Amino acid sequence: MADDKRVGAPSLAGSAKEPLVICDGLVKVFGRLRVLDGLDLAIGVGETFGLVGPNGSGKTTLMRILAGLVRPTAGSVRVLGRRLPDPRVAASLGYMTQLSALYLDLTARENLRFFCSIYGLRGQERERRIAEILARVDLSADADRVVATFSGGMRQRLSLACALVHRPRLALLDEPTVGVDPELRRSFWDYFAQLNREGTTIIVSTHHLDEAARCSRLGLLRFGRLLACGTPHELLAGAGTSDMEAAFLYYAARGRQEEVTA
Ligand SMILES: Nc1ncnc2c1ncn2[C@@H]1O[C@H](COP(=O)(O)OP(=O)(O)OP(=O)(O)O)[C@@H](O)[C@H]1O
Ligand SMILES: [Mg+2]
Repeated sequence: MADDKRVGAPSLAGSAKEPLVICDGLVKVFGRLRVLDGLDLAIGVGETFGLVGPNGSGKTTLMRILAGLVRPTAGSVRVLGRRLPDPRVAASLGYMTQLSALYLDLTARENLRFFCSIYGLRGQERERRIAEILARVDLSADADRVVATFSGGMRQRLSLACALVHRPRLALLDEPTVGVDPELRRSFWDYFAQLNREGTTIIVSTHHLDEAARCSRLGLLRFGRLLACGTPHELLAGAGTSDMEAAFLYYAARGRQEEVTA
């Protein structure tokens, strides 16, 4: 799949060498809560970058900042070669929110048409993309059922389809496999790998460490910063273990120690 087929791609050339996402000293404060505390991050074209961190560590907040929905308190964000906020970036992003953004009283196809309208897809091209994505998430036979009658896994598949129907260059997937059975989880990740081969950069948050192991790089978010960032292999080696869960516990304990001594 060539980049130039992607919605919004021609106007967002950027530099071939510049990372797709650059966060520089990102701070987000909600009231007295400092959720992000000077976060630096660069994510390259073609990565599947996994965000891992405990509940409340700021994964969704970071995703929302990258999607341009939340303004950071301080620091800068560049996405697709442009400093946010920039409305031109939105068309090249796909954002699967943690909580479903589906309209329950519409059918799957109608939901997809709604998302297509946001991205400016119309006519035959829109219907072709919808048919294609429905087939890829195995919902073709259910396309004209109202979403209220869907199971949780079917809703997750449709949410994913809505985020990807316009073939974004960057997909932000916030816990896409919550409530999804192991077989379907595997097929989601096979699909992510395929998308990645086709040129889509993916940022995905997850609590499943087997999923984390399938990412090209991982960032462990805690205390408003990345406690560790690297390939799964690098993180395991740095923690001196072959077990991802033990590695994360190691970095969390080290981060806590630094917090105490700071
Ligand atoms: N709009 C908001 N107003 C006030 N506090 C907020 C807001 N959004 C998030 N927070 C707080 O910021 C912190 C980080 O929340 P966030 O949703 O980013 O975490 P998360 O890592 O995605 O957690 P989870 O794993 O549970 O999804 C939490 O303490 C949350 O209560
Ligand atoms: Mg979250």
